[in-house]
Amino acid sequence: MGKIVIAIDGYSGCGKSSTAKAVAKDLGYTYIDSGAMYRAATLHFLNSYLSPSNPHDVEKGLKDLEIEFHPNPDSGEQETYLNGLNVEKEIRTMRVSENVSNLAKEKEIRKVLVAQQKKLGKSKGVVMDGRDVGSVIFPDAELKVFMTADLETRAYRRQQELLAKGDLVDLEEIQKNLAERDQIDSTREEGPLIKVEDAVEIDTSNLNFAEQVAQIVDLAQQKI
Ligand code: C5P
Repeated sequence: MGKIVIAIDGYSGCGKSSTAKAVAKDLGYTYIDSGAMYRAATLHFLNSYLSPSNPHDVEKGLKDLEIEFHPNPDSGEQETYLNGLNVEKEIRTMRVSENVSNLAKEKEIRKVLVAQQKKLGKSKGVVMDGRDVGSVIFPDAELKVFMTADLETRAYRRQQELLAKGDLVDLEEIQKNLAERDQIDSTREEGPLIKVEDAVEIDTSNLNFAEQVAQIVDLAQQKI
């Protein structure tokens, strides 16, 4: 049986990461969270007091930026490391969410992360989620999915996710952040969020988690 590349793009907070992770597990594929890399880069710039819109800062910030994924020894799930430190939890905080899209629109930063993402997916049997996976990172992916859901649903789901981690965040604050990120991500010059022609659109507003995973696994099995 041949292995394929699955690209999952879509708006912020529509469950791409958890869905992609479950699809990868089901198929025995590797899951790569491209958004985690932009989040880790954002944390690095914030912690180093560097501005992603200042070219000198960008040069400095990229010089000592090392992002890796390593499996958690208990769950086996991939976790994000920034310069050797596990930052999986910290990159999901509102502090990072509020700054990530402004970093992700910078051309020089995208160039570096996109090159790393292409390398990570060189061998087939990969599910990657993000904003430009089907358009820029893997334009030849055998299966491209574009996930959507209405803003209220997305904000509510994200709130529940944060709550499960012990973070109580106001629904309105989450909704505002998701809308802002969508706006910046869709209108930037470099690798904007778009639905490519050959992507299958899945609106998850009225689907439960198991249903959205099953739909993508089904689509993948038709291609394998
Ligand atoms: O997927 P996630 O919501 O964690 O992504 C965080 C942010 O990273 C997005 O809002 C977007 O600005 C950026 N991103 C990107 N390209 C990707 C993945 C994420 O620009 N492939």
